[in-house]
Amino acid sequence: MLNWMPELKGRSLMRMTSFTDEEMLNLIDLAAQLKARRRAGVRGDLLHRKNIALIFEKSSTRTRNSSIIAARDEGGGAEYLTRPDIHFGKKESVKDTARVLGRIYDGILFRGFSQKTCEELAQYSGVPVWNGLTDEYHPTQIFADLLTVKETFGSLKDVTMAYVGDGRNNVANSLMMGCAKAGVRYVCCTPKELWPDEKMLAEAGEVARRNGVDIRVFDDPAKGVKGANVLYTDVWVSMGEEAKTAERIKMLRPYQVNMDLMKATGNLEGKLMFLHCLPAFHDDNTDVTKESGALEVTDEVFESKYSKVFDESENRMHTIKALFVSALADRAAL
Ligand code: CP
Ligand code: NVA
Repeated sequence: MLNWMPELKGRSLMRMTSFTDEEMLNLIDLAAQLKARRRAGVRGDLLHRKNIALIFEKSSTRTRNSSIIAARDEGGGAEYLTRPDIHFGKKESVKDTARVLGRIYDGILFRGFSQKTCEELAQYSGVPVWNGLTDEYHPTQIFADLLTVKETFGSLKDVTMAYVGDGRNNVANSLMMGCAKAGVRYVCCTPKELWPDEKMLAEAGEVARRNGVDIRVFDDPAKGVKGANVLYTDVWVSMGEEAKTAERIKMLRPYQVNMDLMKATGNLEGKLMFLHCLPAFHDDNTDVTKESGALEVTDEVFESKYSKVFDESENRMHTIKALFVSALADRAAL
């Protein structure tokens, strides 16, 4: 049922540019194949006897559970390790931890604060290391996002993605580059203070041009989303930035994704979806929301027919599985 795999054996994922455009698109295709296979009730053994360490410094629902089930579905194992569980960076340096875990495990997925930690793990462990979110990037998220767009619209061609909110967080940084690599037009709607980093913008702009699309940044969301096919948002305050909550709410309130903004795309009757990496604050769905009033999306949009957020979140599992399989599976096992 599965007769093909991208050439990513032994490869780490630090950021979107870790893979070529073609490798990224092939990985997304593999995820679609694995999804269809699982839906047909098939559990394979592509990760038989492969063990993956999950080092998490920050909370996670999707990334953690996707990784565990992705490994288990294919006959492998995953061990969840939080900072207080191991000596990581406290009694034992990142470099030493990398060298120890690299002798025990076949791969490491890291979620944490510093991109440098992720890179150090990759440098010293001798096994593939995958970035499961750092302050700067969230590449595994973007594979799921692109798969969701592709399966909903049938193609990644002629798609405009409008990201609305904090334009320089981990998701926005990776989404901008992911869209550029996939040939998806990217529009970032964000206040001046949160514009994407200039260097990242220039780098992604070059990739976008190579793929026949462009990247634009607007501080007026209603103008920016005109013609968009995907409205994408994320929380206004990322993990680790809690001290900035009040200032962010003030700054980002005009960037809330509500039905008026969906209408401003001009595509309510056409090709339009709403995405969010989740977790999301929408109306009074959590205690935090009730307290802060910081809603990046209204319930009306979150629960609407346009919202594909749960397909997107399911796709985290299929794309993470594709990542593990393409880096660890033996071709002979296909
Ligand atoms: N989208 C995402 O990464 O979710 P978690 O924080 O639950 O892993
Ligand atoms: N930008 C968010 C993404 C969560 C998946 C954060 O870093 O908290």
